[in-house]
Amino acid sequence: MCGIVGYIGVEQAAPILLDGLGKLEYRGYDSAGMSVFDGEKIQMVKAKGRLKVLEELTHGGKTLKGTVGIGHTRWATHGEPSDKNSHPHFNEKGTISVVHNGIIENYIPLKKKLEAKGYSFTSDTDTEVIAHLLDYYDRGNPLETITKVMHRMEGSYALGILFSHYPEEIFAVRKDSPLIVGENSKGCFIASDVPAVLKYTRQVYFMNNEEVVRLGRDYMHFYTVDEEELTKEAVTIHWDADAAEKGGYEHFMLKEMYEQPKAIKDTLGPRIKEDEIVIEELHMSREEIKAIKRLHMVACGSAYHAGMTAKYIFEGMARMPVNVDLASEFRYRNPILEKGDLVIVISQSGETADTLAALREAKERGIVTLGIVNVVGSSIAREADKVMYTWAGPEISVATTKAYSAQLMALYLLAAYFAHERGSLQEDQIASLIQELKMLPDQVEVLLANKEKIQKFANRYIGAKDIFFMGRGIDYAISMEGSLKLKEISYIHSEAYAAGELKHGTISLVEEGTLVAAVLTQENLYKKMFSNIVEVKTRGAFVLAVTNEENKDIEKVADYVLYIPKTNPYLTNSLAIIPLQLFGYYVALGKGCDVDKPRNLAKSVTVE
Ligand code: G6P
Repeated sequence: MCGIVGYIGVEQAAPILLDGLGKLEYRGYDSAGMSVFDGEKIQMVKAKGRLKVLEELTHGGKTLKGTVGIGHTRWATHGEPSDKNSHPHFNEKGTISVVHNGIIENYIPLKKKLEAKGYSFTSDTDTEVIAHLLDYYDRGNPLETITKVMHRMEGSYALGILFSHYPEEIFAVRKDSPLIVGENSKGCFIASDVPAVLKYTRQVYFMNNEEVVRLGRDYMHFYTVDEEELTKEAVTIHWDADAAEKGGYEHFMLKEMYEQPKAIKDTLGPRIKEDEIVIEELHMSREEIKAIKRLHMVACGSAYHAGMTAKYIFEGMARMPVNVDLASEFRYRNPILEKGDLVIVISQSGETADTLAALREAKERGIVTLGIVNVVGSSIAREADKVMYTWAGPEISVATTKAYSAQLMALYLLAAYFAHERGSLQEDQIASLIQELKMLPDQVEVLLANKEKIQKFANRYIGAKDIFFMGRGIDYAISMEGSLKLKEISYIHSEAYAAGELKHGTISLVEEGTLVAAVLTQENLYKKMFSNIVEVKTRGAFVLAVTNEENKDIEKVADYVLYIPKTNPYLTNSLAIIPLQLFGYYVALGKGCDVDKPRNLAKSVTVE
């Protein structure tokens, strides 16, 4: 989704803005722009297309003089991607410039009202309404103007604002779209996400809903929507700045796949103390854990798939009933939530609009919430009653890999911990599970080393029209994630099926040469899956099997086999996903797709 940056300080602003926008590219965008105050007026450059266009237009920012500016990458919601719809937007006099991430839900009545007062619009965006509203309410006190406008807008917004009559300041606002503020000895920054400022500072302030910040070259003042001044604490970010760079890899996705052993290890490490699982951040006694009646896993995208895996694990290990919900469904379904339920929201970014709304819905109903989140200080991390962090570090590629793997690890730990506290797993079972968890990073490493073999296989399928994935039980959950990885970056139609459902429709889609990826890691379901493979083979499918290394007899029926090392049956998803991620990556690469920034997708979906 859209990315915002802003800088005010002693350095030239435009190169810093471009650099920050580059770090936000992962969010997905179709156009970009900047406004900089040049000492006399606000200059603006914006263009449809990649940031490269903006860089070329401004010679890397050099031709845009001035030390105060805001920038934006736009992911179109209202109005097609075009130069005119790109941000920043202006009032008619060109004295107020705005960049926006979010959606102004009541922009139509606001626009009508403004048109009736003589304002004319040059774009199809909801954002332009904000620029004109600011103009309409402007009586010379920017803070008052902004808060008036906030009271009139409905929807979500993070805004960066320049007023030419306040050339020594930047203003920024946040409601339901992320915004952070940072400072160093050479100036102050705003951004939609931490990677944009990491190069410049580690001291970051997370804006809360309905807060305003006023930034000068060497100060920042925070206010409520009622203009009362606030004191905020900075959070120190420990992420390595290099973690947000490609570091020699062709794509962030490849780099992040290779960071999975570390992400898994870092998520596991702090929770194992003297060979026991300890999740201190839960702050839950054994009695409280025993009293949990039901779990709800709520998430979007891959995080939802992690929740799907978790269902099998919590039910199996901890014998707890689990509902898994897409956050976008949960929030509008009027779900049945009862005292004793625990709602677990899973999110890499901690900013996904639907997941955040689902969390709020649960909280409003008085249900205890736990966020499994990667981004420290994100909205979900701050609003959930309890937070368990996945320590995957910054993830840039739109298609998640390492954050997903870290989510699986967090969920294994939580399930094992609950199982232990509730008495459904005994000490010796926990002890061997911990050993198996500790082996996962090395096993993932071994699987990643197999990339050449997978690349060769993937190259045969770059022309495929449909690819099906199937599995049973926990392998069904990983089939969903494998299918998503492939389709989102390669644009090949793909679906995942519970193999038992084949005969209820899918099998009619299988024809000579159709690729079916079958995942079979569960011994109790192996024979059933074996039969399903035979069934699709009989109809002409080419079968890629992902299975445990001891299942060599699979070679009798499958055309191509990728083996995973031996582990606990509950943990196989962490291994089976590796060849599937590599497969998706290499198919997309072979097709020449923009792997890190697939069309129409955004990393952080901050609007509905
Ligand atoms: C987008 C991303 C996915 C991610 C999903 C949920 O679709 O491309 O990789 O799984 O959002 O995001 P979250 O940040 O809540 O995990």
